[in-house]
Amino acid sequence: MKKLIIDTDPGIDDAMAIQMALNAQELDIMGLTTVFGNVNIDLTTSNALRILDLAGRNDIAVAKGAEHPLKTKFAGGVPFVHGDDGQGNTYKPASKSSAVELSASAFLVEHILRYPGEVTIAALGPLTNLAMALQMEPQIQQLVKEIVIMGGNAFCAGNATPAAEANMYSDPEAADIVFGADWSLTMVGLDVTHKTVLSKHDIAEISTSKTPLNRHVMEAYKFYQDFFKKANKMDGTYLHDASVIAYLLDRSLYQTAAYPIRVETSDCLGKGKVWPSDGASDQEERPALRPWRNRPLVNVCVDVNAKEVIDLVKSKLML
Ligand code: BDR
Ligand code: CA
Repeated sequence: MKKLIIDTDPGIDDAMAIQMALNAQELDIMGLTTVFGNVNIDLTTSNALRILDLAGRNDIAVAKGAEHPLKTKFAGGVPFVHGDDGQGNTYKPASKSSAVELSASAFLVEHILRYPGEVTIAALGPLTNLAMALQMEPQIQQLVKEIVIMGGNAFCAGNATPAAEANMYSDPEAADIVFGADWSLTMVGLDVTHKTVLSKHDIAEISTSKTPLNRHVMEAYKFYQDFFKKANKMDGTYLHDASVIAYLLDRSLYQTAAYPIRVETSDCLGKGKVWPSDGASDQEERPALRPWRNRPLVNVCVDVNAKEVIDLVKSKLML
C-alpha cells in the first residue's frame, strides 16, 4: 500500500477526493494536513475532521496548517464555489475529535523523515504547508517519495483569474518554492482537469450509494454543481482534486511532459500563473530565460484519458 498524506483545504471537491482515497485499498492514508484556501483554516480543519467522522476513520490524524499565505493575508476564500462552511452550506455539527498538536508542516516533516522514500503527498490546496515544511527541513526533498499537486495551468486559461488557477493564485510564493525544490513533483492542473467532466448523469449514479460520507458529499455537491451551472454553463463539474487520486491510482491514464516552472509572484494581472519553459535548445545563451535556468523538471500532466478517469472515480466512490 502507498503511504499517503493528503494536504487539503476542504472544499467540496477535496471531500470527494478524500472519500475516493479512503475507499482505495491501494492507499494507506497516514494523515490529513489542512491549509487555508477554499475557506479559512478553522473551517478547513473542522471539515477534514468531519469527513473522517462520516467515514468512521477517526484513527487518521488531522494536523492543522497555515492560516495565511507566506507573504500576504488570507483573502477570504471562495464561498461562492464551496459555500460559507466550505461544504456547500450543509452545516454539519462539529466533530468531537480534534487536530493533533503538531502543525501540518511539522507533521509532514516528521512522517517523511520517519519513512524515508515511502511517503507520497497529494496536495489539493495552496502549497503553503509544503513550502514551510521545505524551509523547516530541506532534507525532505530527497526523502519524500513523490508529490502530486492539483493546481496550475500550463497551456490553458486559469479559473481564479483569466491567468491563474485558484490554488496557485492563493499563494504564488509558496508555489514557486515548491516547483523549485529538488523532488519528484507532478502537476495535475487545469490542462487535464478541465478535460475531465463529471456529468450530471455520473453524479446521479454516484448518489445511489448511501454510505454516510457519500450522502454528505453528494448533498454538498449540489452547491458545487450550481456554481458550475452559473459560472461555466455546465450541467456537470470539472474534476479537480479527485484527479490527483486518479493519477495516483493509475498514472497510465495521464500523458505528461517535463518542464522547468516559474510562478508569477508579483501582484499583477498575471499573479499565480504557472509558466513552463519549453526548454529552447539555446537557452543557456538567452538572458531572458535566466529565471528558468537550473530549475528542476516538473512532470506536467498535459493530456488525459478522461473517460477512464471518470470510470475509475465512480468505481471508487460507489461502495
Ligand atoms: C482548486 O481550487 C479549489 O477551489 C478546489 O478545491 C481545487 O483544489 C481548483 O482550481
Ligand atoms: Ca482543494
